[in-house]
Amino acid sequence: KITPLLLCGGSGTRLWPLSRKSYPKQFSAISGEGSLFQQAATRLSGVGFARPVVVTNSDFRFIVVEQLAAARIDPGAILIEPAGRNTAPAILAATLHIAANDPGALILVAPSDHVVPDDAAFRAAVTAATPAAEAGRIVTFGIRPDRAETGYGWLELSAPPVDGQTQPLTRFVEKPDATRAGAMLKAGNFLWNAGIFLFSAETLLAACAAHAADLIGPVGDAVELAERDLGFLRLAETPWAGAREISIDYAVMEKAGNLDVMPYSAGWSDLGDWDAVWRETPARDAAGNATHGQTVVIDCMDSLLRSESEAQVLVGIGLTDMIAVAMPDAVLLAPRDRAQDVKLAVAALKSTA
Ligand code: GDD
Ligand code: MG
Repeated sequence: KITPLLLCGGSGTRLWPLSRKSYPKQFSAISGEGSLFQQAATRLSGVGFARPVVVTNSDFRFIVVEQLAAARIDPGAILIEPAGRNTAPAILAATLHIAANDPGALILVAPSDHVVPDDAAFRAAVTAATPAAEAGRIVTFGIRPDRAETGYGWLELSAPPVDGQTQPLTRFVEKPDATRAGAMLKAGNFLWNAGIFLFSAETLLAACAAHAADLIGPVGDAVELAERDLGFLRLAETPWAGAREISIDYAVMEKAGNLDVMPYSAGWSDLGDWDAVWRETPARDAAGNATHGQTVVIDCMDSLLRSESEAQVLVGIGLTDMIAVAMPDAVLLAPRDRAQDVKLAVAALKSTA
């Protein structure tokens, strides 16, 4: 069986004002049935999967419990981070926790804020990737790129991609600058890293020992000294504070030599910003508008109009390539090509956002 490791500690600031510090995007219903977190947990449940291990922070712990219960998923463990240290410490902590009972356990790291529309196809890809993980490889999942995205990791292939077949990776490049991303798009032998990883616990621990050895002491102590608190496992604060803040991509993936990729083309989106939400909305109207909630749309084109309040209607007239998101207490208006800059608004608002 594969143990899903669900990461849901991020704050998704580029989807403000829907995504908040206290209620980030992975817990919101942005696309499809239920929240993105519930969709991820459900996708990785049933035959072949053990109960999931969730890593989150203290603020989100009750949201996690509620949403898992509503999705009828019984967690194996919910680890609470005393502070956000990015994904490398989070993944290492959960892996150590899982390995304590079963050093050979297969673990599937899954972000909780993605849209993966075809659950069956995704499970089939995971199953097909299992032999490689059992053989000591770290398997990434690769998405065919269609733009020079600088917010993703890029995977260099050694052979043309074939769905359902793993192949060794030549290189892993995390968040390249625009010039390098453009060159990789043009070169054609690259896929995007979906941020999903399959490995055995011992493989990941060996990779951390080789490439991020400084994390093992503090994270290991934080797991060892963790306290049970209701249903949660609270990592020990003092050792945890000494763990370097770094993502798994920089800490391990860019350095490890035992990476494989499973190409995946059945649909995946990071929903990183409102432009991505617009792009990934299947039911756009004839003029390309994506709407949600109470809206009236007059002569608009290729725009996103979203009202999250029952009590107010959002009216757009003559808008082209615009984003309009209305919450009861905040409204966002921006051109679609400035969607990435929403994080600047969040920074400006800080505590009130
Ligand atoms: N528990 C926990 N603690 N979860 C975290 C933390 C943390 O400190 N930081 C981030 N996460 C969660 C986020 O909620 C998200 O589900 C996942 O980990 C990935 O973190 P992101 O911050 O969203 O990473 P990214 O989007 O910049 O980059 C990653 O994903 C891309 C694809 O979406 C990388 O893996 C890229 O290589 C990849 O292309
Ligand atoms: Mg992300």
